[in-house]
Amino acid sequence: MLVSKRPQFVNVDDARRLAKRWLPRMIFDYVDGGARSELTRDANRAAFEEVTFRPRMAVHVGSPQTATTVLGTGVSMPLLVSPCGGLRAVHPDGDSGVARAADRAGTVFTLSSASGMSIEEVRDASSGPLWFQLYFLGGRAGAEVLVDRAARANYRALVVTVDTPVVGVRERDVRNGMTQGPNVNARNIVHFAPHVAVRPRWLYNFVRDGMSIEVANARALGPGGTPMRPDEASAALIAEPPTWADIEWIRREWKGPLAIKGLLTAEDARRALDHGADGVVVSNHGGRQLDGAPATLRALPEIVAAVGDQLEIFLDGGVRRGSDVLRALALGARAVMIGRPYVYALGADGERGVDQVLSLLRDELHNGMGLMGCHSVHDLDPSWVATPRRN
Ligand code: FNR
Repeated sequence: MLVSKRPQFVNVDDARRLAKRWLPRMIFDYVDGGARSELTRDANRAAFEEVTFRPRMAVHVGSPQTATTVLGTGVSMPLLVSPCGGLRAVHPDGDSGVARAADRAGTVFTLSSASGMSIEEVRDASSGPLWFQLYFLGGRAGAEVLVDRAARANYRALVVTVDTPVVGVRERDVRNGMTQGPNVNARNIVHFAPHVAVRPRWLYNFVRDGMSIEVANARALGPGGTPMRPDEASAALIAEPPTWADIEWIRREWKGPLAIKGLLTAEDARRALDHGADGVVVSNHGGRQLDGAPATLRALPEIVAAVGDQLEIFLDGGVRRGSDVLRALALGARAVMIGRPYVYALGADGERGVDQVLSLLRDELHNGMGLMGCHSVHDLDPSWVATPRRN
């Protein structure tokens, strides 16, 4: 008898539940949590739920067209992978595993400055398109080192994150004693014993991986060339965070496409344009920074109206369904990016989990386009959705 293999998870919520089952609480909360009251984190999701579709019936779509280009990079679908630090504490497959899975899915992986694997290591692991996310670890001097390395390793675009002048307070992390990033190591792991003892699979993987939680890209920036620990990197991150003058400077340093990540207003998007950016990522860091910042899908229309014909506009925060990609594209995004969905999947099943989450989101996207009567992602515009009337 032929028994079809049941997928481990059929949607992103399932992946989240599995991640919760496999990860120690302090790691799961680090991934899942938002700043303060988590209002912005939850608002990101709610904003998608209130946008409904205006489908076109009696249309046969066949194979919908989802391929597009993002900052000059060809991708198979308008769904990219956002930069997330700390992936190696989630699963030893880490950043390299996610980069390989993104490559197989025909999309971009954006490596975080705060990654557990280095710029060069991830480049060697994947031949797919990579972007590099820049934090000013160690001010301009540190940024210069990172940008040179990324250029040399053939990263195609630079994404400068500007929403982290100080680190947002995620109260779950405060309760769990994890306020300096996923700073778990041989010396302090005993403090996390109640979380870790009940997650032996994670512990086994973590120990086998050498309990490696250093910020690998900061190797050249630490004292005497030693790597920085997450707490040192957190301190370096906020010591000299970028201002618009630094964006102007980085524009001269980096010859390739440049996107500014973490903008939420038309005024800032215009500033990004004036400072030479090619794109913006409308983002509130997944609700992990300023609690009370608007949902990204709500902020999108004013940014599209201000600079949509001059910059490529990306959005992340709360994308959990293929249909969310359609909502954001209808409202003017060129592509969306996902953070937690792939981190949950990594926690649930390593690199294979990331393959699975990217493929289920692609299936949802195709299915949604078939149901909407939409042949191509390039056809989407505001006429495909209804947004709630606001006072
Ligand atoms: C992040 N994010 C992030 N952003 C960034 O520019 N540099 C970084 O190092 C990180 N690190 C990071 C770690 C973790 C665990 C998460 C969940 C997020 C923010 C990320 O790029 C993205 O903006 C959000 O995750 C998008 O929201 P969703 O998809 O998680 O709702």
